[in-house]
Amino acid sequence: MNQNHIPQTLIEKYNIPVPRYTSYPPANYFTPEFTAADYREQIVASNSQSPSLLSFYFHIPFCRRLCHYCGCNAYPMASAEYIDRYVDCLHREMDLVLPLLDRNRKIAQIHYGGGTPTILPVEKLKELNQHLLEYFPQIEQPEIAIECHPGWLDETYWQGLADAGFNRVSLGIQDFQTEVLKCVNRKPSLLPVADIVSLLRERGIRINMDFLYGLPLQTPASFEDTIRKAIDIRPDRLVTFSYAHVPWVNKRQLILEKAGLPDASLKEELFRTAQELLLQAGYLQIGMDHFVCAHDELALARQDHSLHRNFQGYCTRRTTGQVYAFGVTGISQLSTAYAQNTKDLDVYLDAVTQGNLPVIKGYKLNEQEQIVRRVIDTLMCNNLIDWQELSDELQLSIEKIKYLCGYDAGQLEDMARDGLVGLSENRLEVTPLGKAFVRNVASTFDQLTRNNPKSFSKPI
Ligand SMILES: C[S@@+](CC[C@H](N)C(=O)[O-])C[C@H]1O[C@@H](n2cnc3c(N)ncnc32)[C@H](O)[C@@H]1O
Ligand code: SF4
Repeated sequence: MNQNHIPQTLIEKYNIPVPRYTSYPPANYFTPEFTAADYREQIVASNSQSPSLLSFYFHIPFCRRLCHYCGCNAYPMASAEYIDRYVDCLHREMDLVLPLLDRNRKIAQIHYGGGTPTILPVEKLKELNQHLLEYFPQIEQPEIAIECHPGWLDETYWQGLADAGFNRVSLGIQDFQTEVLKCVNRKPSLLPVADIVSLLRERGIRINMDFLYGLPLQTPASFEDTIRKAIDIRPDRLVTFSYAHVPWVNKRQLILEKAGLPDASLKEELFRTAQELLLQAGYLQIGMDHFVCAHDELALARQDHSLHRNFQGYCTRRTTGQVYAFGVTGISQLSTAYAQNTKDLDVYLDAVTQGNLPVIKGYKLNEQEQIVRRVIDTLMCNNLIDWQELSDELQLSIEKIKYLCGYDAGQLEDMARDGLVGLSENRLEVTPLGKAFVRNVASTFDQLTRNNPKSFSKPI
């Protein structure tokens, strides 16, 4: 048994629905009282708030084929005309937002997610990038990243990504076993993944790979084979997502229940198998599910506790900006507010065509919630809270910070007895065993969720 194997009693106690904390408050707490006018006001205010760097997100919602497991905002493929209209609206939406931003601010990040952004012709992606890059100055080597489904892309497309300005590509692999992919309705890579990676690397593009554990037909042996194949290719970053089963969000996931989902303890074994192999191969673990090469800037940021996180993933002090999102369902993450665009494609197109921001809900954080968000963010990124460091950063006493985030000594001491956290006067440190339940530890600071529970996935 591996030393971090989680006892069944802890799985029973802590494998309960809990937020993922990719944002605080979680997106299901956003409210329709937050309007487009509020977002406009918040964009203007964001010019004088920190961080001053700009991060942009484009949501491309369409997919050629929908994977049964998908928990993302993905929509069936549309006609070429409809997609052209969608891209046109992304440009129009930029025309509504960009004039509100201070033109001296620098771009740190541009990220395309979905759905499948690579359903767009590469020239359209280039034009979207240029729209931003011609408007604002940039930091040295801003990160320009795109999530790619390799099932549909040929050599010319991969080559075109470098020309369109991309310097990081996330390959959605999920699993290398064809029978697993078939069962979840996913097309395997069109070209050998190793060939795609060398082609991209020759053009200076860094490589991320996404994997998913907890799918039907996965066994520790099959997943070991998958991860070994990945290690041979040596992506710069690799994510092993825990499959989030949320059939109330996506009914297609019920098909997987019929195919037979692994239980929590098998799922945990799948993760441990991957984790052991990756650590042995020299990868460093970031947060719960990210693994990075030792040379990666996220590895260095982990060492000096300067990691940050947004909806698009981890970032460093160099690349952390406030996020302005474009496209259907896009979520903007500003220093004092979140704003989410409508989920309805036609409503999105009509609103933007008429010159309106397509915001349907959001959240304005009060000062206390901004402190709680900082506490949860540092815990989720660094598996550590150094209260003195936070106190210096926030210019508040440790007692005041603990008071504002509802520090529950009894609950944390219980977690310490269970071996999930180490507690000392100035530090809270998540143990190797506790990493699987870091979301539960974060939830002890989250009075909003505790007082008003909603549906969430389980940590394992
Ligand atoms: C928008 S998708 C990736 C882009 C592209 N559409 C693809 O499939 O390759 C982002 C990632 O979310 C992860 N994902 C999707 N559904 C998930 C779920 N239910 N639970 C956990 N991760 C999930 C997958 O690993 C996927 O690669
Ligand atoms: S995993 Fe990717 S391709 Fe599959 S449905 Fe989700 S967004 Fe689309």
